Amino acid sequence: MYVDPQKNNEVRRLTLHITPKEEISYHQPRPANENAMMSSREQSPQLDTTKSASPVYSIPKDEIQILKERQAQEQIHEKEPEIETTNTTENTSISELSVNNETNIAQEQDIRSISNHKNGIEQLTLIQQHLSANDSNIPEDVLLHGKITSGKYGFKDFQILRTLGTGSFGRVHLIRSNHNGRFYALKVLKKKTIVKFKQIEHTNDERKMLSVIAHPFLVRLWGTFQDSQQVFMVMDFIEGGELFALLRKSKRFPSPVAKFYAAEICLALEYLHDLEIIYRDLKPENILLDKNGHIKITDFGFAKYVPDVTYTLCGTPDYIAPEVVSTKPYNKSVDWWSFGILIYEMLCGQTPFCDSNTIKTYENIMNAPLKFPEYFEPVVQDLLRGLINRNLSQRLGNLQRGTEDVKNHPWFDEVIWDKILARCIETPYEPPIRQGQGDSSQFDRYPEDDMNYGFEGEDPYRDLFKDF
Ligand SMILES: Nc1ncnc2c1ncn2[C@@H]1O[C@H](COP(=O)(O)OP(=O)(O)O)[C@@H](O)[C@H]1O
Ligand SMILES: [Mg+2]
Repeated sequence: MYVDPQKNNEVRRLTLHITPKEEISYHQPRPANENAMMSSREQSPQLDTTKSASPVYSIPKDEIQILKERQAQEQIHEKEPEIETTNTTENTSISELSVNNETNIAQEQDIRSISNHKNGIEQLTLIQQHLSANDSNIPEDVLLHGKITSGKYGFKDFQILRTLGTGSFGRVHLIRSNHNGRFYALKVLKKKTIVKFKQIEHTNDERKMLSVIAHPFLVRLWGTFQDSQQVFMVMDFIEGGELFALLRKSKRFPSPVAKFYAAEICLALEYLHDLEIIYRDLKPENILLDKNGHIKITDFGFAKYVPDVTYTLCGTPDYIAPEVVSTKPYNKSVDWWSFGILIYEMLCGQTPFCDSNTIKTYENIMNAPLKFPEYFEPVVQDLLRGLINRNLSQRLGNLQRGTEDVKNHPWFDEVIWDKILARCIETPYEPPIRQGQGDSSQFDRYPEDDMNYGFEGEDPYRDLFKDF
């Protein structure tokens, strides 16, 4: 089923979502003129293939701790989009204090960040305790505790700038905080569309899952709000663009580059799966690169807390696992299948079962033999045969030792996982951006619809999106 990557097109793939016994329904506005947009970029992403993504052996193990600490320091300097409050009572948490005395601002911001960081960790511990107690429903009070405050922000807090991306139900804007001048990303989903496509539960889950997670390779949600027609999610702006764009420009990645991205993604999946969260929409369009070239997974539209099994047919056709296509009960296994498809695509620029006809894609997923281009090393072929394996009791990642089997596969032999997690491995590609300045040159241009946000009228859907 291997197709020449030169013939591959550059169209971002649509997400598909069918709740049982419903029709396939998807829609996605596409950029008006994709080719023009690609060529109008100031600087096309060039992969520096001379850099090796292999872990650095010369760093002794005990330095890992130092590097981890340095990274933690970096993290606490990431800033929340501040809000203005005039009432400060003794019970107000530091994160909500409005700082008036300019000389204290820097110091206060550090305290605030540390406080948020601690809150995040405490919250996560709480959640992990709840999850490990085999609770089938994450309690609302846990989810809403600390990290995310629903309705925390509003339009007064931001300037809405250009569109960064569009998906099946809404769009993501670049925004700028009116309070600290920093840039963020705002995902906007139309309530009417969510209801029409029966995505109410998925949308509420997206918010819930994002409010639970805290990991270096997952996008961070700062808060949510709504007007009478839309729901909004404020996230960090990930400046380096989609892995998809880099891959299409590069045609395919050299093995060490693919391995570097795969290793970071593997740790993100391990983290989610430890929380009993399945992601269900792994693909290069949902993987962003941060300013240094590390990955951040965005789009939790299909992420779900599933301690047992689920049946919903959702995902993106090229990436969907056979057990989903055949509507069998499934769990984390689907992410490991997609992980295999992703490595395959990174290495050759094409997914193994794709066809211009979606039904044929599904037939291929169910039956077609897995074939490799001759330049795939035997060791990666072995890994991919393990991941892209129709037999669930043989699929790598889905066995008794879970993620450990993937991490211990010989293709990842030279990877030192602690260093990957600490982000102390040099990235294979640094996005050509001016950091922290709202530089969105790595994102395609989309037609800008009228931004009719901030409606205050009648809201027939209010009860459906209470958490926002
Ligand atoms: N935090 C972010 N920073 C920068 N761009 C983002 C961010 N989140 C999403 N995007 C861009 O917006 C696109 C659509 O967002 P996504 O959440 O994937 O929506 P959908 O669920 O409709 O696919 C993404 O593919 C990406 O290009
Ligand atoms: Mg998406």
